[in-house]
Amino acid sequence: MSLEGHTAPPAQKSGEPANPCVMVIFGAAGDLTKRKLIPALYNLAKEELLSENFAVVGIARREMAEQEFQERIGRDAREFATGGFDPKLWERLSSCLHYLCGHFDDDTLYGRLRELLLEVDSSLGTRSNYFYYLATAPEYFSPIVRKLHAAGLTQEQDGHWRRVIIEKPFGTNLDSARILNRDLASCLNESQIYRIDHYLGKETVQNILVFRFSNGIFEPIWNRRYIDHVQVTVAEDIGVEQRGGYYDTAGALRDMVPNHIFQLISLTAMEPPISFEADAVRDEQAKILRAIQPMTPEEVLTRTVRGQYGGGVVKGKPSVAYRSEVKVAPDSFTETFVALKVSIDNWRWSDVPFYLRTGKYMPRRVTEIAIQFKRAPFMLFRKTPIHRLTTNRLVIRLQPDEGIALRFGAKVPGPLMRLGPVDMDFKYAETFGSKPSTGYERLLYDCMTGDATLFQRADMVEAAWGVVAPILDVWKALPPRQFPNYPAGTWGPKEADDLLERDGRYWRSIEE
Ligand code: BG6
Repeated sequence: MSLEGHTAPPAQKSGEPANPCVMVIFGAAGDLTKRKLIPALYNLAKEELLSENFAVVGIARREMAEQEFQERIGRDAREFATGGFDPKLWERLSSCLHYLCGHFDDDTLYGRLRELLLEVDSSLGTRSNYFYYLATAPEYFSPIVRKLHAAGLTQEQDGHWRRVIIEKPFGTNLDSARILNRDLASCLNESQIYRIDHYLGKETVQNILVFRFSNGIFEPIWNRRYIDHVQVTVAEDIGVEQRGGYYDTAGALRDMVPNHIFQLISLTAMEPPISFEADAVRDEQAKILRAIQPMTPEEVLTRTVRGQYGGGVVKGKPSVAYRSEVKVAPDSFTETFVALKVSIDNWRWSDVPFYLRTGKYMPRRVTEIAIQFKRAPFMLFRKTPIHRLTTNRLVIRLQPDEGIALRFGAKVPGPLMRLGPVDMDFKYAETFGSKPSTGYERLLYDCMTGDATLFQRADMVEAAWGVVAPILDVWKALPPRQFPNYPAGTWGPKEADDLLERDGRYWRSIEE
């Protein structure tokens, strides 16, 4: 597919370098730092989007000299870089990496941090602008913010800024999310809090809004008159890997639904915002989250399905059952698959179900939103060999193979009236080329430039947990009887198919 007036991928930079600042990473020896944050900073440096006056302070419990930290991070950067690795560029970035060893609950750490930040400000001109990335276990979120506050490191004055990026999971249920929001609000203004959801860093997720609102032809049909239902699939072809300890306490519902999947649903379903200002967009997203009807206990029984994988074959290789994974209880009731039917109770979406499913160890990795349109009237075709009309379907493929496909029916050439489904298919990589990215670049850059559009607001997080809460309650009261109930390498338990079949529908076959 070609793009009108555009033949080569755009070479120009997407913006100006970010403001002078220091990024303080709590949890600097962890996985997220090495796999995502440092490679993302490297990519930003490559695009010349980092300020000349930029520094990183890594904090972790491990005893390490600054030089050792720089070397370690250097090795990681080489290993996890998403594009080629330029040693010269890395040398420059590496020279602004600092390290502090300490326990997050030790008050003296914060005094040392303050001194180091003052030094960095005077040597690198970072202007007292700091953002703290909490890449730590969630139990440290509140204590770290409280101690930063007590050390005078969160107050914004004299034109400088202080921001905090909070990783997921943001609470484990509605109550804990509220408590965390309250704790944060006692030390920070909402405008200083950046609750990250890495799905919003994905280009294709950001494109949902552009696709919907920059094209005049879709918005008029984006409603209950034309759309039959929506399917959101977030399937992974991996199991829980090394994360059994966390996952066994979380489960697929908490891990994926109130955050990533609700982001996808709110962007797909929201009304046009009045601008791309952070709060204009987030107000509309929040309205959708508030319009998703929390289920009654009876509805939880009929509109939700949970599953857990047993042993199976994934991509041709045998794989173990969830209950045999490392750090998973051998009699675990934790779900690794969930399917839900949710209703958005507003004018646009009345009677249009949103079906969503997500799971580990599915046959393929695929994240997509499929908009299924209503069927055209059949009567014209009654006296032809055609038995059924193709329905139109728009599939927004978020990963992998990012793109958008529109399905419609076409006449099969020949003397008979026959119908075949065909697709108009746009592929990002073919049209724009692909740019190596971790998905964190945009989010870090936005935090440095003070744009919170792609971050969660307190009310959004609470609204999302409010929807999930009744499901968690009923599931807790009624443990599943037949776990494991789907073999690894399949599309989940049979009940997930029944959920749609009861409504006369079926999951779109992703192999198609
Ligand atoms: C994380 C979940 O937030 O998202 C993981 O904790 C999941 O369980 C991951 O694997 C999926 O992200 P992505 O970007 O691979 O779709």
